Amino acid sequence: MSSIVCLETLDAMMTYRDQLLPGQNVALVPTMGSLHQGHLALVEEAKRLAPEVIVSIFVNPLQFGPHEDFEKYPRDLARDLRLLESYRPLSVFAPSVSEMYPQGPSRTVITLPSMTNVMCGLGRPGHFDGVATVVCKLFNVVRPSVALFGKKDAQQLAIIRQLTRDLNFPVEIVGVPTVREPSGLALSSRNQYLTPVEKDRAAFLYQALLAGQKRFEGGERNAEKLVEEVADVLREHSIEPEYVSLVDANTLVPLEEELGTSRAILALAARIGKARLIDNVVLEP
Ligand code: PAF
Repeated sequence: MSSIVCLETLDAMMTYRDQLLPGQNVALVPTMGSLHQGHLALVEEAKRLAPEVIVSIFVNPLQFGPHEDFEKYPRDLARDLRLLESYRPLSVFAPSVSEMYPQGPSRTVITLPSMTNVMCGLGRPGHFDGVATVVCKLFNVVRPSVALFGKKDAQQLAIIRQLTRDLNFPVEIVGVPTVREPSGLALSSRNQYLTPVEKDRAAFLYQALLAGQKRFEGGERNAEKLVEEVADVLREHSIEPEYVSLVDANTLVPLEEELGTSRAILALAARIGKARLIDNVVLEP
């Protein structure tokens, strides 16, 4: 049994929030549960930034497509609470789907077309609308002063930074570095779907990105050649990517010619066995 405060309704969450001291810093770590070291790195950073930390655990149906893994997505709240135990004091907000969407799917949808019609947004239509909408709901209910997201999902992070600015949420968005296995494989709840052999293959995703990054560091500035470098390494290991993209780190606009002076993200998605995995590296000019 865990002794962490676990709030399961919007009312309970809002009442809890109202009782905190005015002006107190509150950090929100939004998650879909099935916590791993990557999430715990977010919690650790949150504890460093604010005296009050709230971890939300909610598998958001709005961000899953009709043929995606919403039903199968791993859920184990008791295990998640046990993992969070050593970070007390800390609160968890774990609402049900009917609590978050009492009238069925939200009729209000937050959408950032220019940032969602690229990269993962092409293969997962509606996904980032679902993410953006639930994040706005969480911001309204939890009213954090700071919210932390993993850099592994670079597109999600850029979209959340943008909507926070556009909608004037008084929330500082903090990106936390990706936690990796010794092989380089980025931690993800979906790694649970991989067999040991698939896990070894999945490590080549990061190796491929590193090859692109190395070429960049060696002076290559042609976007097409950098993308090709990554695709070549994937091909050598018989991995057919869903995409390899090079985009501006802030706007996510695809970079198609010579790289300029702004930060870029070299990102990919690929299906290995039953898992759709994403990863990225930053190219600093
Ligand atoms: O990154 C995730 O786990 C989810 O997309 C998020 C931000 C918790 C929204 O459901």
